[in-house]
Amino acid sequence: MSALFQPYSLKDVTLRNRIAVPPMCQYSATDGVPNDWHLSHYASIARGGAGLVIVEATAVAPEGRITPGCTGLWNDEQAQAFVPIVRAIKAAGAVPGIQIAHAGRKASANRPWEGDDHIADGDARGWQTLAPSAIAYGANLPKVPQAMTLDDIARVRQNFVDTARRAVEAGFEWLELHFAHGYLAQTFFSEHSNQRDDMYGGSAANRARFLLETLKAVREVWPENLPLTVRFGVIEYDGRDEQTLLESIELVRQFKASGMDMVSVSVGFTIPDTSIPWGPAFMGPVAERVRREAGVPVSSAWGFGTPAIAEQVVRDQQLDLVMVGRAHLANPHWAYFAAKELGVERASWTLPAPYAHWLERY
Ligand SMILES: Cc1cc2nc3c(=O)[nH]c(=O)nc-3n(C[C@H](O)[C@H](O)[C@H](O)COP(=O)(O)O)c2cc1C
Repeated sequence: MSALFQPYSLKDVTLRNRIAVPPMCQYSATDGVPNDWHLSHYASIARGGAGLVIVEATAVAPEGRITPGCTGLWNDEQAQAFVPIVRAIKAAGAVPGIQIAHAGRKASANRPWEGDDHIADGDARGWQTLAPSAIAYGANLPKVPQAMTLDDIARVRQNFVDTARRAVEAGFEWLELHFAHGYLAQTFFSEHSNQRDDMYGGSAANRARFLLETLKAVREVWPENLPLTVRFGVIEYDGRDEQTLLESIELVRQFKASGMDMVSVSVGFTIPDTSIPWGPAFMGPVAERVRREAGVPVSSAWGFGTPAIAEQVVRDQQLDLVMVGRAHLANPHWAYFAAKELGVERASWTLPAPYAHWLERY
């Protein structure tokens, strides 16, 4: 019997299997408002059989977008535009989730296929970026961010809260806070990017403060019966990995004590010069360690998009949920084909009935 195709429950939500589509930016919105492309994309992926579909990093404020094409959820027009997307995901039998984010010093960039670099100074499409300290990421993202004042920090925390409230209104049933990938929250936690000398910098407890305060404030407005998860870069692969991992695991324990239901284990991506050991399922052992030492359910991504690998990491209890990203772009019915390959009984019923009936019968 397949482990990957067992249902999974967290709070009052039950996923039809352990396959999740991780957030993947489409860079195709205007003024943060999702459109027909997003509807088409999310509907098709949800139809393919995954248990959970997490909508792309959606900005909590205009300056928190990675690119001018990123989705946002800082106003009601955006919330309304997400409603048909949520409904389409649900109609296909998947649970609709959303990742909410602030890109910090990596904001104000060109779309990946238009350069993937910071928008040039003086170009009206760009904007002033924010970060804990006025330290640039470097490489393709050289803009020096403005160091946030205490008022800025309070405002962005409130932006997360207001966005979470709009996510409830739009009908999302799973919320992920983007505390990873070198975006704002991750840069508060990392000593590479946080050199503040106030209560938000210095010790690990101070560098964690923005993340914990934001999580606790969001938990107040996000329904208690629905999952609240955090995507967090627990390791940088910068040569200080054991120390970073220990600090990260301690913070994940605090996330749990503050109302987080699951952590999506990822890479920090706070600095450009790292030695990431890319390869199939390379985050599996890291995620398993976080799961065991912090005592929380985990998901993870990066190279799990082969049926046998996805099955194995659930069977070995490395992951509770397997994030399969790019493989879903190549084949939105990835889950169905995975079920067939793994010999799941009545595999066609991974797909909704109007498709499944005919595939099973003839
Ligand atoms: C087009 C694209 C957009 C992405 N956007 C996001 C995002 O919005 N938020 C996020 O946390 N990760 C994002 N990622 C990373 C994915 O969530 C995932 O970690 C990555 O694709 C690795 O998983 P895979 O090997 O199954 O593709 C993106 C990846 C891709 C390919």
